[in-house]
Amino acid sequence: TFQTIDDLESGQQLLVRIDINAPVEDGVVQDNRRFARHAETIAELLADDHAVALLAHQGRPGRDTFISLEGHADILADHLGQEVAFVDDTVGEDALEAIGGLEAGDVLLLENARMCEEELPEEAPDEKADTEFVQTLAPEFDAYVNDAYSAAHRSHASLVGFPRVLDAYAGRVMESEYTANSAIQQREFDGLVTMVLGGTKAEDLIPVIEEVDDTVDRFCLGGIVGELFLRADGHDVGYDVEGTEFFDHQWEDHADTIEGVREEYGDRLHLASDLASETDDGERVERAVAEIEKETSYLDVGSDTADEYADLVAESEAVFVKGALGVFEDERFADGTVAVLSAIAEADCFSVVGGGDTSRAIPMYDLEEEDFSHVSVAGGAYVRALTGEGLVGVEVLEAVAESE
Ligand code: 3PG
Repeated sequence: TFQTIDDLESGQQLLVRIDINAPVEDGVVQDNRRFARHAETIAELLADDHAVALLAHQGRPGRDTFISLEGHADILADHLGQEVAFVDDTVGEDALEAIGGLEAGDVLLLENARMCEEELPEEAPDEKADTEFVQTLAPEFDAYVNDAYSAAHRSHASLVGFPRVLDAYAGRVMESEYTANSAIQQREFDGLVTMVLGGTKAEDLIPVIEEVDDTVDRFCLGGIVGELFLRADGHDVGYDVEGTEFFDHQWEDHADTIEGVREEYGDRLHLASDLASETDDGERVERAVAEIEKETSYLDVGSDTADEYADLVAESEAVFVKGALGVFEDERFADGTVAVLSAIAEADCFSVVGGGDTSRAIPMYDLEEEDFSHVSVAGGAYVRALTGEGLVGVEVLEAVAESE
């Protein structure tokens, strides 16, 4: 267990790590469920006369989702119903000046933490605590609050460094996601357990597929992870094509593992039998995997695959979803994702849907959140929790509580 914001004395200067990593369309950040959830934690802190500086990240260097947090401040302000100041600096003079000017009831969002070199390399918490990043910011605050459960699987400075040098507490989102995900881990299922995996972060999902060997009976794959497994089967897909420059490293780094898992798991891995792409006229067109072409970007699974996956879901006792099967933000390529989510909503099964992006599909396609057992704002962190492996961001908070 960890200390929570119930244990904080009122009226302090707080550094609060939130996770508002969100989809970006044409360079503009889009609202997802994370903003509203964090706004609740922040509102509670403000009501207790704290001054709040927020630390967060967006995207990864090199990807087009790696942008400033300026637009995020506006979305957060809408949810909070009060101004959220933004400073385009994270640990420099401008940031320190803005932090110095904070008064009780104020909220300030600092610039994308991943724009600082020391944030990202995965290193042990003690090393992160020694970075200039942490050493510069920490003295400005009375305490640190981590509300970013969905990033707690990353050993980055803003997540694991501060609890080593500041009194540290869990925020409400951290608390509730931790409780829900721990409860899931303890459940046992007699019937079939199915995992539906997609999205763009294949490198996070491959180790998960290996580690949930004993608990998950079968996997329905789509998105980039699905393409990489099809490539392992010799199909012309999962190559570097326009707009998907990260494919190649995901293949190069994981080809041996993917091929090994494919061989070991065999029929437990369900791969797409057809895929959808866009014609020059902007129409959706579907092709059987035997006819797919290397140069084409595939944006959804085809309708045969969607039907097969929906049937597999319908006969399951538990279904875990992480990542979308297609680019559902575009209605033309939402069929696979919506077919599977609708099948889950109709089925009488235990279900968890996770992912900062994926959970957006629920309101977007008029599905009801109540039809799922748990809709998590976390993606990678929730599937990591399913493997039974601890989350480093949670462990550092627990270490603080134990040393009290
Ligand atoms: C997420 O969106 O799942 C978290 O914010 C972590 O982001 P990352 O996968 O880029 O580290």
